[in-house]
Amino acid sequence: MTSYNPKTMIPYGKQDLNEDDIAAIVDVLKSDYLTQGPKVPEFEQAIASYCGAQFATATNSATSALHIACLALGVGQEDIVWTSPISFVASSNCALYCGANVDFVDIDIQSGNLSLLALTNKLHHAKLNNILPKALIVVHLAGNCCEMSAIYQLSLQYGFSIIEDASHAIGASYNSHKVGSCRYSDITIFSFHPVKIITSAEGGMALTNEAELAEKIQLLRNHGITNDPKVMTETSHGPWYYQQIELGFNYRMTELQAALGLSQAKRLDDFVQQRNALAQRYDQAFKNSSLTYLRPNSETHSSYHLYIVLLAQPYQDFHKEVISKLRAKNVFAHVHYIPIHLQPYYQNLGFKAGDYPIAENYYQRAISLPLYPNLSNEAQQYIIDTLLAEIQTIEKNLISVEN
Ligand SMILES: Cc1ncc(COP(=O)(O)O)c(C=O)c1O
Repeated sequence: MTSYNPKTMIPYGKQDLNEDDIAAIVDVLKSDYLTQGPKVPEFEQAIASYCGAQFATATNSATSALHIACLALGVGQEDIVWTSPISFVASSNCALYCGANVDFVDIDIQSGNLSLLALTNKLHHAKLNNILPKALIVVHLAGNCCEMSAIYQLSLQYGFSIIEDASHAIGASYNSHKVGSCRYSDITIFSFHPVKIITSAEGGMALTNEAELAEKIQLLRNHGITNDPKVMTETSHGPWYYQQIELGFNYRMTELQAALGLSQAKRLDDFVQQRNALAQRYDQAFKNSSLTYLRPNSETHSSYHLYIVLLAQPYQDFHKEVISKLRAKNVFAHVHYIPIHLQPYYQNLGFKAGDYPIAENYYQRAISLPLYPNLSNEAQQYIIDTLLAEIQTIEKNLISVEN
């Protein structure tokens, strides 16, 4: 047992900013452009080339990127979009913004990602009932990729589009292709919220290899306004002229955000490496305990946005107690996520408890432990010792009750 004793709460995730990041923002403040200058396209280009995608569009959040990705794919009323119930609500809200219906695919308890078997069965039945989805939004939970090669084959067989919600997965790869390459999808979305792998404060990005989709996303990001004479309905009135040809939004990223993202992107691989090293230490520490932990599939090199353990089934009644005790000892354990279909808004849409039993079982057992690049070895050992001590207490108490 370590003697380390944290005086303040160890958070579950945290940004890592250095002097270069700060200088990059100050440079923008001293420049002529706070918005719509050179930094946004520079950031887009840097992320597109890192991922091996042709086009990247920066937005003010992953939520807005998901929204306009759905619109670019033609998602609208009468359409159905499927996603995982174990995600942040933004993964499914984006389809509701477009007037579409949402449905969920239950998860695989080993990875926390949507289950390939459940997806295959659901598609089979949906085809028979003529209710196939227009799009599937896969979520790479914690930075572990879904089984993209098989999911892509299913998309060809059943004719649906794929959006990768890779909010957790920049820097990860699947089959040696960087997430964001869109090798197995139409569009990939990243989030740059401060707890994510790299940050631009708030921010997101949509990547694609299809020029038409990229143009649509860029148009929708900026009110549906174009300066391109080729797509205008009449000859330009002069150099000031623009036309609004779609109903778009102001989802633009600022120069300040892009400069921070660009500076952070230089350390992306280091961050992912540090996260993997911390995850390996957790794996080692828990491998002989009753806890299980989410594991990436063999094709994935994870970005480890989160480290999630599952309580053994017999101990699930102690879930709240374990998390509360960890927090009382300054370890900010968390749960990612409350199943989306159990949210009141979704219950009002007709979803109910029991609809996705594996996701619900996962929710009763999942605990996210602190994981971020500058988490010290001492602090990590303290987290491990504190959690294992709690588990041992539960085990001992249960044994004494049984006897
Ligand atoms: C899986 C997932 N999708 C979407 C989002 C939304 O990201 P943002 O906060 O950048 O809008 C998040 C953020 O937590 C997320 O975790």
